[in-house]
Amino acid sequence: MWNAVALRSLGRLSPNAASPPLPRLQTLKNRVLEGKSRDLHGGKQPAHVLQDQGLERTRDVLPCRLGSNKAKYRRWAKTYPVLDGRVLSVYWHVFEENLRNSEAVIKRYSELLERVSKGGGENAILHHTQRNKKLFVRERLKLLLDDESFLELSPLAGLNMPYGDVPAAGCLTGIGKICGVWCVFMANDATVKGGTIYPIGVKKQLRAQEIAMQNRLLSVYLVDSGGAFLPLQSELFPDKSHGGRVFYNEAIMSAMRIPQVAVVCGSCVAGGAYVPTMAEETVIIDKIGTLFLAGPPLVKAATGEYVSPEDLGGAKLHSEVSGCSDHFASSEKEAYECVRNVISTLNYDPLPEEVIEHDSPLYSSEELLGLAPRDYRCTLPVKLILSRLMDGSRFQEFKANYGTTLVTGFGHVEGHLVGIVANNGELSHDASLKGSHFVQLCSQRSIPILFLQNTAPHTAEPTSISQAEAHSNRLKAQASMMAAVACAAVPKITIVIGGCYGSESYVMCGRSFSPNFLFLWPNARVALLDSRHFSTVPQAGDNDCTRDESELKHLKEKLEEESSAFYSSARLWDDGVILPQNTRKVIAQCLEILEQQKYQVISPCQYPVIRM
Ligand code: COA
Repeated sequence: MWNAVALRSLGRLSPNAASPPLPRLQTLKNRVLEGKSRDLHGGKQPAHVLQDQGLERTRDVLPCRLGSNKAKYRRWAKTYPVLDGRVLSVYWHVFEENLRNSEAVIKRYSELLERVSKGGGENAILHHTQRNKKLFVRERLKLLLDDESFLELSPLAGLNMPYGDVPAAGCLTGIGKICGVWCVFMANDATVKGGTIYPIGVKKQLRAQEIAMQNRLLSVYLVDSGGAFLPLQSELFPDKSHGGRVFYNEAIMSAMRIPQVAVVCGSCVAGGAYVPTMAEETVIIDKIGTLFLAGPPLVKAATGEYVSPEDLGGAKLHSEVSGCSDHFASSEKEAYECVRNVISTLNYDPLPEEVIEHDSPLYSSEELLGLAPRDYRCTLPVKLILSRLMDGSRFQEFKANYGTTLVTGFGHVEGHLVGIVANNGELSHDASLKGSHFVQLCSQRSIPILFLQNTAPHTAEPTSISQAEAHSNRLKAQASMMAAVACAAVPKITIVIGGCYGSESYVMCGRSFSPNFLFLWPNARVALLDSRHFSTVPQAGDNDCTRDESELKHLKEKLEEESSAFYSSARLWDDGVILPQNTRKVIAQCLEILEQQKYQVISPCQYPVIRM
């Protein structure tokens, strides 16, 4: 399994689920601070020393696709200069501070993931599996997907919402392979309030559909839902980006030739009934799958007549009478086999399964924990991070000595060529111009761009006319870079490795600039401003700035909490939190997913498949 490191257990589906255990702070600290790792020695070490440290320069042999890519990699990648990834002694105290913070946030992250992995809780799982005789959603995915290695999206969505905890937003989404084809899946978790859809659940499904459209990935829906969560109907039903948009997207996706397959593996009530009915092909499972606009209780209330769910909208009725479903399955296992058969009829070109050799980075990915900035002041040179992400720590830098607060250049991640745009200080005028130039190069050459975002929490106020002029120039240069980023016609992946602050975060392809994927490290901070820099409560028209101390404290605490990576991920401002040491795997997986569209037969199509 090529990405076995990413995931081993479906009990905890996330890019980080099978991450190696956290290196003990002391061990890692000692390794770096006592100079045991190669980067502290300067020169190359003998192989046995590298091996002892887990830093051996092995060549992973992984399957990759394009023969031409393979040849290109052989020819060019090994000639790029090797980055010096040594952590100099002058940085050690910062490294240590970052490491301590990383341990704390990753502990919190693991606790949250653990909470999410239990869905609606043990009782709800028992109710679901024993009384309702259905499989838990993660077990369903095990049966459906080729293997357990897939990219779960936003597992922390829905935690600590104003309306309570909704684990995984009541709906698992992610990207996995079925019959060798990368697919987006959306699977309701009926252990969370009967699989009813909360506002955050709608947002999660819409984001999954957006990913499917942007990356041209076929979609599979596992529907097991009581429909809208009625107490919150006003936040779910009426607006453009509310529930109805899911059905609208289904039609548009079909017209775009993005196939969609649904499995009715539980209740599909009211709005939920449209998901399978709008899909191109639908499988319904006997005894557990039901589909209707109004369930038996409503029928009883309206007519006084009792009708069983099976008679009202069961598998037989929809397969034999209504035609809302196309395939009848007598068990869950049979249904997922049927989906695999349907996918094999899509007439996709088989993806080449070639093997490409690539070098591992020369420096340990565990050391990224000491490079993940606790806050902006603890930021170390970004090339230290690049040296732990790029194949062979090799990097072909562009404009190395110009606008040095932004690092740009080319490198490979598990054999895939990417353009890198990485913050290395404030986004100055020169840095922004360099960024614009480089992004256009990538666009011209059809090379995906990886943004490593760590933007400054505040910009200094101008203290003179000349400084104000410099600020205006920088504004103009940043605007050019924004335009270049927005219009670059290549896939973009953004990883927030530190700060996602203010407007510079847009320039670095923040969420509103529609990167194909956006992930955060757990130490990331997301806010317009860093609350830690406030000395007064900012108020419009308030010039004396002498506000109550407790008000300031309260505001700082609120902003502090709202800036955390977990707060962001709970609200789906990103596609998930990933561990620094797994970043390379996640990037490689995204790049591989992005490549799939090269193998699709795409021809213009203006109409969706309409169910008859
Ligand atoms: N809105 C809000 N809460 C709902 C809900 C809805 N539409 N449907 C179910 N729930 C809640 C239940 O109140 C229950 O909450 P609790 O655990 O706090 O008691 C939980 O979801 C599980 O429901 P329950 O009926 O115990 O589970 P079940 O597995 O036996 O049945 C359903 C699940 C979805 C089939 C069933 O609850 C149902 O038919 N719900 C009504 C669906 C409906 O009419 N929706 C219309 C939406 S427009």
